[in-house]
Amino acid sequence: MKPRIFVTRRIPEKGLEMLRPQAEVEVWPDALPPDYPVLVERVQGIDALLCMLTDRIDGNLMDAAGSRLKVISQFAVGVDNIDTAAATERGIPVGNTPGVLTDTTADLAWALLMAAARRVAESDRFVRAGKWKTWASIGFLGQDIAGATLGIVGFGRIGRAVAERARGFGMRILYHSRRRHPEAERKVNAEFVGLDTLLRESDFVSLHTNLSEDTRHLMNEANFKKMKPGSVLINTARGPIVDSGALYRALSSGTIAYAALDVTEPEPLRPDDPLLALDNIVLCPHIGSASHKTRSRMSAMAAENLIAGLNGKRLPHCANPQVYDIS
Ligand code: GLV
Ligand code: GLV
Repeated sequence: MKPRIFVTRRIPEKGLEMLRPQAEVEVWPDALPPDYPVLVERVQGIDALLCMLTDRIDGNLMDAAGSRLKVISQFAVGVDNIDTAAATERGIPVGNTPGVLTDTTADLAWALLMAAARRVAESDRFVRAGKWKTWASIGFLGQDIAGATLGIVGFGRIGRAVAERARGFGMRILYHSRRRHPEAERKVNAEFVGLDTLLRESDFVSLHTNLSEDTRHLMNEANFKKMKPGSVLINTARGPIVDSGALYRALSSGTIAYAALDVTEPEPLRPDDPLLALDNIVLCPHIGSASHKTRSRMSAMAAENLIAGLNGKRLPHCANPQVYDIS
């Protein structure tokens, strides 16, 4: 009997083509994800799961899948939706897709930075609304990027790729992370500083950390107050790194000038979310890795991880490598 795989949403064809010869592949057909109880039901008896960042994958779900479940392969680099400790306890490796989406996500961080600095989305709304009556010397004034200071919080692959791009703008680059990265910092001429210094001195603050208990609501009221008036916050990492209520107050009181978010808390934002009423924010629906090429490569990578797991081989990209220490 062929192994059974459940894929929690439609994904680019490339990965499915790799999976079909290996297994019986079932793909959730709807545009919206399966609710948790539905997912718990659908995973029963499967050998492998290919899931998205919108799925809650916990120990209960793993137990519902049953003892055949050999691998969980996530179509994303971040795995905060998965209880990886529970997977490790059960001997289940969790795959993810680092590296391939680094440049694509760094590009979007820059698109958002520039859109916020120069009020691009706001200007677009103005033109479409028929409000453009004349050129104005004091209309739509924003922030200069060239020569400004960029603060990068989290200096992994994506944070560094954002820093590389900043060099063309002649920016001063500060970064903060758990540990110092001397080689990477030399390459992009970035300066390692404490978070307080970064917040006080940066014109643009861009978030690139994982979501964990240490980074949840890292951007809270006290930290917004340290930022410069006129500064801009960019978040392409995970929504809950920013306290939304504190962000709303910082934007509406002028503590900071602008925010640009690809990720929010919750996702999606509710239609009555107060952030939606602000002009000084630009929002995207979590599209950091959404280029044709990158999403296709992510589907291939998620399929490779899954196939390795099905065959009892080490996953090429494993988010819980501890699983291999336990024998
Ligand atoms: C996207 O947010 C990812 O983690 O890949
Ligand atoms: C992404 O690939 C990261 O590790 O920052």
